[in-house]
Amino acid sequence: MRAELESVIDELKRLRKEGVQHVYVSDASIKQLQNSIEGVPFPNEQKLESNAPTSQVEIPERIRSATPEEFDQILKEVPSDPKKDTSPGPNSLGVPPEFKLPEGSKQDKWDALKEIVLSCPTCVANTRDGYKTVFGVGNLDADIFFCGEAPGAEEEEQGEPFVGKAGQLLNKMIKAMGLDRSDVYIGNIMNWRPQLPTRVGNRPPTKEEIEFCLPYLKAQVNVVRPKLIVALGATAAKGLLGADTVRSLREVKGVWREFDGTPVISTYHPSYLLRNDSKRDKRSAWEDLLKAMERCALPISDKQRGYFL
Ligand code: URA
Repeated sequence: MRAELESVIDELKRLRKEGVQHVYVSDASIKQLQNSIEGVPFPNEQKLESNAPTSQVEIPERIRSATPEEFDQILKEVPSDPKKDTSPGPNSLGVPPEFKLPEGSKQDKWDALKEIVLSCPTCVANTRDGYKTVFGVGNLDADIFFCGEAPGAEEEEQGEPFVGKAGQLLNKMIKAMGLDRSDVYIGNIMNWRPQLPTRVGNRPPTKEEIEFCLPYLKAQVNVVRPKLIVALGATAAKGLLGADTVRSLREVKGVWREFDGTPVISTYHPSYLLRNDSKRDKRSAWEDLLKAMERCALPISDKQRGYFL
């Protein structure tokens, strides 16, 4: 049994190396894992904890040590959200939205689009009670459009993409490019934070959720008309380039592709870089950003060329 657990851990480590930030584990799988773990001595426990992804929410002791029966009970105690109960839910979101933006300036179009997204019934129904649906921000004349995965806890609190720890690193990356956050546009594949039944932690968006939100992202790209998009992480790359054609970030990282006619370069997600304090990964991400700078004809000093060498 320990061999099986170690294979699961190895696979998770491999995925993390590829830039995968979250894996969705169903309740049934958690129960299965708990059944497998019960009674199995695991001398590496200390090591296991220190290798666990640091971006994950701390699991309360009561959940961590629960037997399957106790875990069932805990799930029953999770207060149900009346808004969620009537919502379409991740697998029945309905058809992706169709809408027409008004004639007028970029600002007119963007204002109308923001209004459409913030009042989209599916987006609202999938946003936690008391939190915000998140729409893109930034310069409508930006050359560079950064695209992330989905809002995290801080983003859904503030209603703005990339305002948490990953956002702070993204701001530093933008500064290193000689730009300011206000010079670029920042959006996400998703307008809401994909939720777990337990309301703890993150999960990656499903294919249906990505397909539902994609028209909103496409419309933002059409309004801004940037010179290029930087896809941050595997989910953004898959969302923009097609989950059926891109299986991992490694396949497309640092390579020019297109989204609806706009050049796309994919790179590591800032959260991944925060978790992996590796100079090699930082340099590799920086080289992708240098490619983006070159394509936008931004000035690049010798000092900038040499970052992380
Ligand atoms: N991660 C993302 O992909 N997007 C955000 O807005 C924040 C964190």
